[in-house]
Amino acid sequence: MEADRIIVLDFGSQYTHLLARRIRELGVYSQIMSPTVSSAELAKSKGIILSGGPKSVYDKDAVAYNPQIFSLGVPILGLCYGEQLIGHTLGGKVELGKVKEYGSAKFQATKTELFAAVLPNSTVWMSHGDKVLVLPEGFSKIGSTKDCEFAAIADERRKIYGLQFHPEVAHSQEGMKILSNFVFRICGCKPNWTMKGYLEKKITEVQKNAGNKNVFLLLSGGVDSTVCLALIAKALGAQRVHALHVDTGFMRKGESKLVVEELEKLGCGKIHLVEAQDKFLQKLDWVTDPEEKRNIIGKLFVDIAIEELNNISFEPGTWLIGQGTIYPDTIETGGNENSNKIKTHHNRAPIIMEMIEKGMVIEPLKDLYKDEVRELGKLLGLPEKLVNRHPFPGPGLAIRILCSGTKDVNLEAEKEIMKIAKKEGYAATILPIKAVGVQGDNRTYRNALLLEGKFDYEALERVSTKITNSFNSINRVVALVFPKKINSIELKAAFLTKSRIQKLQEADFAATQILAKTKQYDSIWQFPVVLLPIDFNKNGEGVVLRPVESKEAMTAKFSKINKSALKKMATRILKIGGIGAVMLDITHKPPATIEWE
Ligand code: XMP
Repeated sequence: MEADRIIVLDFGSQYTHLLARRIRELGVYSQIMSPTVSSAELAKSKGIILSGGPKSVYDKDAVAYNPQIFSLGVPILGLCYGEQLIGHTLGGKVELGKVKEYGSAKFQATKTELFAAVLPNSTVWMSHGDKVLVLPEGFSKIGSTKDCEFAAIADERRKIYGLQFHPEVAHSQEGMKILSNFVFRICGCKPNWTMKGYLEKKITEVQKNAGNKNVFLLLSGGVDSTVCLALIAKALGAQRVHALHVDTGFMRKGESKLVVEELEKLGCGKIHLVEAQDKFLQKLDWVTDPEEKRNIIGKLFVDIAIEELNNISFEPGTWLIGQGTIYPDTIETGGNENSNKIKTHHNRAPIIMEMIEKGMVIEPLKDLYKDEVRELGKLLGLPEKLVNRHPFPGPGLAIRILCSGTKDVNLEAEKEIMKIAKKEGYAATILPIKAVGVQGDNRTYRNALLLEGKFDYEALERVSTKITNSFNSINRVVALVFPKKINSIELKAAFLTKSRIQKLQEADFAATQILAKTKQYDSIWQFPVVLLPIDFNKNGEGVVLRPVESKEAMTAKFSKINKSALKKMATRILKIGGIGAVMLDITHKPPATIEWE
């Protein structure tokens, strides 16, 4: 049986994934799609949600959408920009925002289907400039706030609803209840999205897509590719599955060996290991740009996979490539025309995209979020220690070893930044290195800032947020953990070399071990450890610890990990040698990304 489906049309909001996840939390399958998607596709859904977005309906380059949306007879809920689009398109009037309304507001709801069992007065989260001023014909007001008369509108006959606030964010007190009313009462969905149903459906789909071909799976050994391996083996039988693990040299200490050992034990197919450290290092010699690194690694990875395919002498046309791509991977690479390219994920390299178009790739997990993949893994009987592992990026430590840098900051801004930090008791230094970030749904590549002073998480968070919000030269802030004071900072020419990789492997190993020993491994999402090509106090390079908490990696919070564990990590890391400072990354995503490159 097909699960009921709600389509979320993405007009570019930061909250689109959150929205899709909220619907899935209700037990209903939701899918993010482009607003230009065909009417035939939309008509197969039980309901459509129009997301918010950064544009105004009056912008010349406002997001294009399928104008038939409103005449399909499928229930619609427009949120923020979505409500304005309803107002603007159906004959009402939208007022261009002179003042922005941002933050919480008191919302008064009237008695309607959408607000069944919702408190008449509750707190909602607003974030908008424009708003609906005149209602389209057939619509009535069903709720308001002090500053927004039409905070909720409805044409109940046509089942079209609009909310100026964001029910998907946790600050909207009755948000989940409202979404649940829309999904169950108005769209008539049943909570029939279960992992068990998904597994059955995917098994049949893999069997059908593969026909009599075998599958050659690209296996990093992380959660996604491991679950993918188990799923494909269950569908086709282990003898039809070959998996390739490439040791790029950018894996963690001892990890490739461990991956092969653990996965062979599972008995899900033949595991091939290719040792390719030298090939990767050769191709990356002198390369410093993050996107260039990603592209080179992605391409070489596929070249090696194809070479290996030929070695095992699979006949052309008798195999498919398998990948453990998951849902957020396809969106962050610019998988949708309204999302800006943040980073090229390794399983979206151009050559893979060509193969996908030719129908040569299967990706059975590409609709799932990470926690759903974990659930599926457990259902497939995989051990917890494999499914609960932290995510690890395809290009591995290569994107955690920063290589050279620049500092092009306007001096006036620098003075202002120092003033803000000083007010809270911190000394601030702009580091001569840039890192990737994501702000207002766009990629940024900006300098990192170092704060020195007392290790008070609340104060550090305040300064970090204030500076990244106010200055467009900074997208990342780190706090000094060790030594007590920095006297000299010098940018070095540094590339991807064996000795730097080894240094980072040791630092990463030390941090992960202490994290596990202090029982913090399961409470955080991921813990990148990053090497900076900067000499601190003439003692050696900088190491940045980046523990984050997240649900699906599209947004994240820096983790305020236990201070005594942090100290232990710094002490162990400094013993490795050639390291002059240890810092903690104190930036959320956005404005930073989880990885530095
Ligand atoms: P960012 O750095 O964009 O990362 O906040 C979000 C999540 O994606 C992981 N990541 C990757 N995973 N191939 C992957 O398989 C990649 O190229 C890649 N780049 C980032 C990152 O570790 C985090 O979990």
